[in-house]
Amino acid sequence: MTANELRSKYIKFFKLKGHIQIQGKSLLPDNDPTVLFTTAGMHPLVPYILGQEHPSGKKLVDYQKCIRTGDIDSVGDPNHLTFFEMLGNWSLGDYFKEGAIRMSWEFLTSPEWLGIPCEKIGVTVFAGDETVPRDEESAGVWRELGVPPERISYRPRADNWWGPAGTTGPCGPDSEMFYDFGKEPCGPDCAPGCSCGKWLEIWNDVFMQYNKKADGSYEPLARTCVDTGMGIERTVAVLNGEKSVYDADVFTPIIRVIERISGCSYGVNVEKDKSIRVIADHVRASTFILGDPKAVTPSNIGAGYVLRRLLRRAVRHGRRLGVESVLLAPVAQVVIEELRGPYPELEGNSAFIIEELNKEEKKFSETLHKGEKEFEKILPNLLKNPQRIMSGRLAFKLYDTYGFPIELTMELASEAGLTVNREEFDEAFRKHQELSRAQGGEVFKGGLIDHGETSAKYHTATHLLHKALRIVLGGHVAQKGSNITAERMRFDFSHDKPMTSEEIARVESIVNEQIKRDLLVTMEVMDLDAAKTSGAIALFGEKYDSQVKVYTIGDFSKEVCGGPHIERTGVLGKFHIQKEQSSSAGVRRIRAVLE
Ligand code: ALA
Repeated sequence: MTANELRSKYIKFFKLKGHIQIQGKSLLPDNDPTVLFTTAGMHPLVPYILGQEHPSGKKLVDYQKCIRTGDIDSVGDPNHLTFFEMLGNWSLGDYFKEGAIRMSWEFLTSPEWLGIPCEKIGVTVFAGDETVPRDEESAGVWRELGVPPERISYRPRADNWWGPAGTTGPCGPDSEMFYDFGKEPCGPDCAPGCSCGKWLEIWNDVFMQYNKKADGSYEPLARTCVDTGMGIERTVAVLNGEKSVYDADVFTPIIRVIERISGCSYGVNVEKDKSIRVIADHVRASTFILGDPKAVTPSNIGAGYVLRRLLRRAVRHGRRLGVESVLLAPVAQVVIEELRGPYPELEGNSAFIIEELNKEEKKFSETLHKGEKEFEKILPNLLKNPQRIMSGRLAFKLYDTYGFPIELTMELASEAGLTVNREEFDEAFRKHQELSRAQGGEVFKGGLIDHGETSAKYHTATHLLHKALRIVLGGHVAQKGSNITAERMRFDFSHDKPMTSEEIARVESIVNEQIKRDLLVTMEVMDLDAAKTSGAIALFGEKYDSQVKVYTIGDFSKEVCGGPHIERTGVLGKFHIQKEQSSSAGVRRIRAVLE
């Protein structure tokens, strides 16, 4: 099945069920400061889910272009994308759980539609918590449809709750549908929703019941709604028996052109495949951002900064493949050609897209050249450092003097087996920013203006996570490292076995509880010894000055840290653990986001 066929079948099915097709909207949300991009089909429909009448009625269907940047660093593996297309059907006060689930099942399994064998499908439903009861209604409908109990998995809020796209908005429990690749279960607890690779989520039915307010409270919606989302690329790959989203037909011509330009064949070398996938995804996403009626251009702030980052990563991966010629525009031409049917705006804006890509590629190639040469010069000295740490000051110098982006310094460093002291970089960056503001400088040259605040939020979240892990897993938990980007945090800590899903859910809920309590974050400068006596956590093995900053978060945590931090936990949004995995012997790694 092709993406075009899946798109048409889905729309046709829901039209037969009385839905009206509406147009997907811009990738750049209207009047919504809480997100940079449209992240799901429901996003443009938020006002209607909250109660406004929709001009097309109560039952709607569409396909929507979406961008999610939370996993940008994972793009390159077989299943991560930033840009994707989402199919969705909505009930605005019409059918609810039973109607939605029955239609989902029919579309997935009926031979007239997708014809997926029933035994290849497993589902998850919300397990319930203090606020919302266990979703027995959905589970009951799945059982009636013939899904056996072992393929109906009850999961906590961390997995089966659709939070608002930003920090406020409609939300509720959901029921997700998974495809079973037929692999052996990874253990006795392996069930739909397990991330071992046996199960892949293909569709999500969300039962919208609440509006999350800015103060963190949940207000029941005047009428319940259904919001569903099915990723096209994933579902096409599954239906064709492929193991990777990049095997979906929409990617084939894009990958062919990258092969032609680079002279590297896809499917031969793991590292080269990774670079080919990064280029395919990032150029596709960028083509859509530039081709959007509300196009943004590459810049150092907000959506423009994400665009710049996507393009720069694509160029760098092109260089890894040995590409010397122009890369972005010829790949974008193919994206436009392939997707102009469902997205005519791409063709209408093609001249603008190509021009912007060429400009950015030229500019960045010059920057890269200078920055890479400089990095090579300092590398021999860096490798002499037994701890294999590159100081944040040096990384900042590369950034400040050559415009070399911190993400790229981190990538080059990690290729050479080094880690960059990101906290120190952020600190240097923030100081410089303050200085240039104080000096009346307008916009900081090349600066990531929006980064400081987000990074401060993640620093504070890191302290909450550290403490919550010690509560749930025990006092042996000690921080082994952390890394923060504008999109996510990573936290390494000592613990000798994988966390269970209950432990993960408890940690999340403890952190979210502290966010809800809106605790005050205060800082005191003290003697290192006084700090330790006061019970502040200090990192073992870390070198501190004799005077240190101690950050206290309400009655919850106290840690020696350089900062920066935010003032109150209430602004952090929702804390969500995306992954928990092994980092090295005896060390686990958590990747988490603030949503
Ligand atoms: N809004 C839901 C999602 O994106 C359907 O998964």
